[in-house]
Amino acid sequence: MERANDVFYWLPCTVVFVSTAHNGQRDIMTATAMFVSEKEPLVLISVASGRLTEELIERSGRFTLVIAAKGQRQLAMQVGSSKGGEADKFERFAIDAVQPSPGDAMIPRGAAAWMACTVESSREIPGYRLFIGRVAESRDMGREPLIWHRDAFFCLSPV
Ligand SMILES: Cc1cc2nc3c(=O)[nH]c(=O)nc-3n(C[C@H](O)[C@H](O)[C@H](O)COP(=O)(O)O)c2cc1C
Repeated sequence: MERANDVFYWLPCTVVFVSTAHNGQRDIMTATAMFVSEKEPLVLISVASGRLTEELIERSGRFTLVIAAKGQRQLAMQVGSSKGGEADKFERFAIDAVQPSPGDAMIPRGAAAWMACTVESSREIPGYRLFIGRVAESRDMGREPLIWHRDAFFCLSPV
């Protein structure tokens, strides 16, 4: 069955950048995320095992979830198809990014919003590590978010 016809790929997903930093090392990857609870500010991400993102989250105990905006389709493909262990993606793709405070993960300019999270819990499943993060700080940058659905990018529109 083609992926476009497989309902498994129909689930609309948020498009986020998981940005990480620890002891002078940094990385950024494209992922999806969901919120776990509306009562408490908890979010869930799933990160493939053995990637630099997983290592930096485990070592630092934190990650920044950046909600990708409409204008960041190309960036989502670039950092979503290259390995952080091979080169610094911020240099390789000349990502214009800001660092809220020294030691923090970088936030690409032009994003929709970001949430700085501390790891509340994590669990390994075959091939992936699931991280639940508690949002410690967040910022809305007022841009439209990107959505991933059936192998393509979309934007929200009112119904
Ligand atoms: C739209 C999109 C969504 C993705 N979602 C995830 C995800 O949820 N988890 C994951 O491990 N990889 C996901 N990826 C793939 C990673 O971004 C990719 O493997 C990346 O190279 C990992 O970066 P790293 O090696 O620097 O950690 C996604 C890629 C795209 C384009």
